[in-house]
Amino acid sequence: MPPTTIAIDGPAASGKSTIAAVLAKQLGYLYFDTGVMYRAATWAALDRGLAISDEAAVTRLTETLQIDVKPPSKDDGRQYDVLCDGRDVTWAIRSPEVDANVSPVSVYPGVRSALTAQQRRIGLQGHVVMVGRDIGTVVLPEAQLKIYLDASAEERAQRRYREVQARGDPTQTYDDILANVKRRDAIDSGRATAPLKAASDAIILDSTGLSIAAVVAQVEELIAQRSA
Ligand code: DC
Repeated sequence: MPPTTIAIDGPAASGKSTIAAVLAKQLGYLYFDTGVMYRAATWAALDRGLAISDEAAVTRLTETLQIDVKPPSKDDGRQYDVLCDGRDVTWAIRSPEVDANVSPVSVYPGVRSALTAQQRRIGLQGHVVMVGRDIGTVVLPEAQLKIYLDASAEERAQRRYREVQARGDPTQTYDDILANVKRRDAIDSGRATAPLKAASDAIILDSTGLSIAAVVAQVEELIAQRSA
């Protein structure tokens, strides 16, 4: 039997989402990217004009939000729809403004506990590939396969830059993206609550210089070993 709960953690743009989506499709599992929940909460705080530094207000808002992830309703390159209180925010949560504010929001313990509870409920149903920063350590410590996917900051920024260019967004340069990736790494790894780190029983894979297919092949190998 292949593992029924798979946790994939790692820093921004390490390829987690792409790899997880491919695996989930192959296995017939739910693919759940927990980053969209932190992004939706950040988008909602900005949309309502809250100061991101106002921890109490951002936390209260997050506790009331209805964040849903559903199958894609449009053929515009999206992997899924993200709805925040019924509004389609799938692309809005990928804006540079959300990118710049999401790590500070995800530091707040109250925001994390509200979102972690929802993620854990979904994860415990099984047949899921769940992606984030703290899935193997906090959200689903009982996951049957834990992968920590890493890559150099420069390679991760290069990948994000290519994505942004493919979307025809001329506003972000490679240097902006690299600076943002490094800043987010520092905040995500340095926070007190559920910092980005590999679980002690995670398999660490470095995807620097590897194609998506090569990383998927390594993970398939791990799944095959665990299934035997
Ligand atoms: O994976 P991403 O870039 O979409 O994640 C956005 C931010 O959300 C990231 O900077 C940190 C936060 N995050 C988190 O703290 N814990 C998670 N499980 C997922 C994301």
